[in-house]
Amino acid sequence: MSDSQTIVLETDRLVLRLLTMDDLDALSVLYRDPDVRKYFPEGTLTYEETKEELEWIIDVYYGQHGFGLWATIHKMTGEFIGRCGLLPWTIDGRKEVEVAYMLAKPHWGQGLATEAAGAILRYGFEQLEYTRLICLVDPDNQASRRVAQKIGMTLELEGDIAGYPTALYSIQRKG
Ligand SMILES: CC(C)(COP(=O)(O)OP(=O)(O)OC[C@H]1O[C@@H](n2cnc3c(N)ncnc32)[C@H](O)[C@@H]1OP(=O)(O)O)[C@@H](O)C(=O)NCCC(=O)NCCS
Repeated sequence: MSDSQTIVLETDRLVLRLLTMDDLDALSVLYRDPDVRKYFPEGTLTYEETKEELEWIIDVYYGQHGFGLWATIHKMTGEFIGRCGLLPWTIDGRKEVEVAYMLAKPHWGQGLATEAAGAILRYGFEQLEYTRLICLVDPDNQASRRVAQKIGMTLELEGDIAGYPTALYSIQRKG
């Protein structure tokens, strides 16, 4: 990890750091995989669409909210294996913050999303002092639902959110 890369948080196996435009190629590989994007309404993204999202993450999420999606790096190899983090939403006039996770396929099924999501949740509660965090999941996305449950969230409602069928999981900070 070079000096110019800003680490947000670390777990046993992962480093989460700020994304930069240098991550565009790696992020585009992730975003053009149909399996990874299966439960996203917009599907796979082109290189240009990924570039626009990355610019949005840096300018709007980091610039205006101070958090967003972060590069997720496997410590052992230094490899970029996904993007996980926190996303701001307004749902029915209520401000919410979502714990979000996405990993490249070769890294599924090893508990890595749960490890990242658990650390992001603690960061949201302890560093950013949110009292409530959510996960928004396509009801058919069983792996994602399971991750939300494993980090302690419970199903609050299942229905249409912004026109899409969604399972909304939530957790309240204790204390
Ligand atoms: C969702 C995702 C992040 C999970 O990553 P992961 O590192 O494999 O997750 P973990 O290994 O920490 O946990 C996955 C859990 O889901 C379970 N699971 C996986 N596929 C499942 C399925 N089809 N049905 C039921 N459970 C399933 C696993 O068994 C595991 O639970 P367990 O520990 O109780 O056995 C990964 O699949 C991914 O990146 N998907 C594409 C992006 C995405 O959909 N992100 C979520 C958007 S809301």
